[in-house]
Amino acid sequence: MSRSTKRLTAALLAAGFIAGAVALDHVTSAAAQDGGDIVRASFNANGSVNVPENWRTWVFVGAPLTPNALNGGKAAFPEYHNVYIEPSAFAHWARTGEWADGTQFVKELVLIREGQDCDPETAACFESSGQGYFQGEFAGLELKVRDAERFADEPGNWAYFSFGHQPEPYAATATAFPTESCNACHEANAADDFVFTQYYPVLRAAKP
Ligand code: HEC
Repeated sequence: MSRSTKRLTAALLAAGFIAGAVALDHVTSAAAQDGGDIVRASFNANGSVNVPENWRTWVFVGAPLTPNALNGGKAAFPEYHNVYIEPSAFAHWARTGEWADGTQFVKELVLIREGQDCDPETAACFESSGQGYFQGEFAGLELKVRDAERFADEPGNWAYFSFGHQPEPYAATATAFPTESCNACHEANAADDFVFTQYYPVLRAAKP
């Protein structure tokens, strides 16, 4: 092979490789857009949902906090609300700015750390980084799922579940709450299609 033929062969090979990669990328994103690649919650024959597995390895999006000290001594949920989204649903959001069918969010409640160095009135603790609130123990788990087929009658097709407002172990299964208990407040107040992205900087930053 002459030098110029070799160069031409190399160029053609590279072009073929790039074309192949572009084609593959196209196939992947087309599959993702119809929600076909979304990891779904598992349901039982009676319609209850199973507690998710490994939700603490999902994408962590934010941790709102409503402490007792700022809520007349008794907040409905005095814990941190650690919110996670299942990773395939996060990837879909980052690509499209939409919650795919099958999207799952969990909210895990985590008590404010208590200890000797904490103020009994405000519950704020003195730690090496300063005075404030720090996370203690796990204290509850909630889930929301979008499923157009299963929850066709729910606004936005979202259903809401609780595996208990207590320390672990959480319940193994849960049944969906009535619309007024959960979904109505989300529909009225959440920034993005029933999800409170106004409190989740990770989701705002990823929105295309
Ligand atoms: C009065 C309003 C209100 C009601 C009622 C409500 N929520 Fe929420 N929910 C919020 C707010 C505000 C957030 C944002 C994070 C936070 O502050 O906890 C949230 C966040 C969530 C999230 C994280 C994903 C998201 O949509 O932002 C889940 C999961 C969740 N709630 C489940 C439930 C369940 C289960 C119920 C019913 C038992 C419920 N919620 C009832 C206001 C509400």
